[in-house]
Amino acid sequence: MKFLAVLCIIFFTIAFAHANHYGCYNNSPCGAGRICHTSKGSCNCIEISHCFDVTLDSSKKSDWDFNGTHYAQYDVTIKNNNLMTDISDIFVGVNSNIAAKDYHQMWNIRRLETGELVLPYYQPAIAKNTTFNFGFILTGNNEPNLAILAVTY
Ligand SMILES: *[C@@H]1O[C@H](CO)[C@@H](O)[C@H](O)[C@H]1NC(C)=O
Ligand SMILES: *[C@@H]1O[C@H](CO)[C@@H](O)[C@H](O)[C@H]1NC(C)=O
Repeated sequence: MKFLAVLCIIFFTIAFAHANHYGCYNNSPCGAGRICHTSKGSCNCIEISHCFDVTLDSSKKSDWDFNGTHYAQYDVTIKNNNLMTDISDIFVGVNSNIAAKDYHQMWNIRRLETGELVLPYYQPAIAKNTTFNFGFILTGNNEPNLAILAVTY
């Protein structure tokens, strides 16, 4: 069941893949379903499913209705699987139909004007071989469909 759930999350991530505007050479965008991956100055567009260095798992922990508004809490884990190098920068895309006003609450993460999520100021890196957790509560019924757009080691 858990395996199925993971499969569904992966499918969902791909099905609603973001138009990724990050790119490597001549600013040519990596495109949907890929991560712009930079390590030691070398940049590559890597399919999300083939990017073993960094993974993102998100799950809807709970949802409820209050006073006519629907709320859903999401817990997210980013794992830096690289054993040698810290992540110094990461950009996570969010479904474009989710606006600033739809966040009832968020923790351990910072939202840019563009809607992308980045590391908070007090956590400027994800150390090698560690996980980083964040979360938020959204109002409404839109799914966030998180996807890593760009990562720098
Ligand atoms: C419930 O929603 C109504 C209409 O938006 C508002 O006037 C009222 O203050 C809300 N009540 C609570 C407890 O939030
Ligand atoms: C990576 O983390 C795992 C789990 O905490 C640990 O068992 C392992 O020794 C670590 N590997 C390195 C190279 O630090």
